[in-house]
Amino acid sequence: MILAVDQLSISSREKTIVNNVSLSIKKGEWFALVGQSGSGKSLLSKAVGRLLPSNLQVEGKIFFNDVDLLSLSTKQIRAMRGQKLSYIFQDYQGSFTPFRTIGQHFEEYQKVHGIPSKSRKNNSLEAIDSVGLEAAIYNKYPFQLSGGQLQRVSIALALLLSPDLVIADEATTALDSVSGHRILELLAKRQKETGCTILFITHDWRHVKRYANRLAVMKEGEIVESGGKHRILDHPQHEYTKQLIQAAPTLGHRLPSGLKEVEKDEPAYS
Ligand SMILES: Nc1ncnc2c1ncn2[C@@H]1O[C@H](COP(=O)(O)OP(=O)(O)OP(=O)(O)O)[C@@H](O)[C@H]1O
Ligand SMILES: [Mg+2]
Repeated sequence: MILAVDQLSISSREKTIVNNVSLSIKKGEWFALVGQSGSGKSLLSKAVGRLLPSNLQVEGKIFFNDVDLLSLSTKQIRAMRGQKLSYIFQDYQGSFTPFRTIGQHFEEYQKVHGIPSKSRKNNSLEAIDSVGLEAAIYNKYPFQLSGGQLQRVSIALALLLSPDLVIADEATTALDSVSGHRILELLAKRQKETGCTILFITHDWRHVKRYANRLAVMKEGEIVESGGKHRILDHPQHEYTKQLIQAAPTLGHRLPSGLKEVEKDEPAYS
């Protein structure tokens, strides 16, 4: 197991938002987290990187490669972010500073993580190339790039230091459907190349169907069902999972350009 969340609860002063959640993610798999808006998916994923707002309390345990994340010092968890686990967010525009070039973002990211200055530019250009972008974007500003290009840059940054776990929280929601599919194809390709594990938060069951190995379904702060994708899609047990799958408008439709779903519930790497 690369990630094991054990009886995790997240509460504000007023209420318990995530209630006693346990889940485990295997090395190399694409694990999807689905469920209604407000069910606690983003908070759960932020708890993993210790990125929760300070008004929220956490109880329980989160093990990452057997390291108890909640017991690490701030310095230790900072060192892990980027290098061991990283995030790709829906609001990628908010992750970039408008008046700094893409190259400066790459520089800064590596500087923070102690990468020697002489190798930074090369690393950046390699990473830019790995997500199918032209080297020329190194000198461009974020506002000169399209949403799809910027999200590619986010992926390049998230994978730059070869993290073991990448958490993608609705990474394609802000993009049109074709750009969104291209981004996920790219993520899947990079996953194959690097062997990283993906925790993928989505509302789109087509993406679950195509990419996930296993998934968990959240409702009102609890996991109501989890298991292999084929088991859940073909034989959902929980009433809420059945409703979600039935309500998915496009699940039976074909993916663009004849894309096929992942065949197995097992990860490509273990
Ligand atoms: N800092 C906070 N303080 C109090 N409540 C919060 C805080 N942040 C989020 N919440 C509440 O926690 C609940 C879960 O939020 P979360 O963002 O995890 O939902 P989600 O499942 O990711 O939803 P969506 O699919 O819309 O992104 C929501 O009701 C939200 O309003
Ligand atoms: Mg969310």
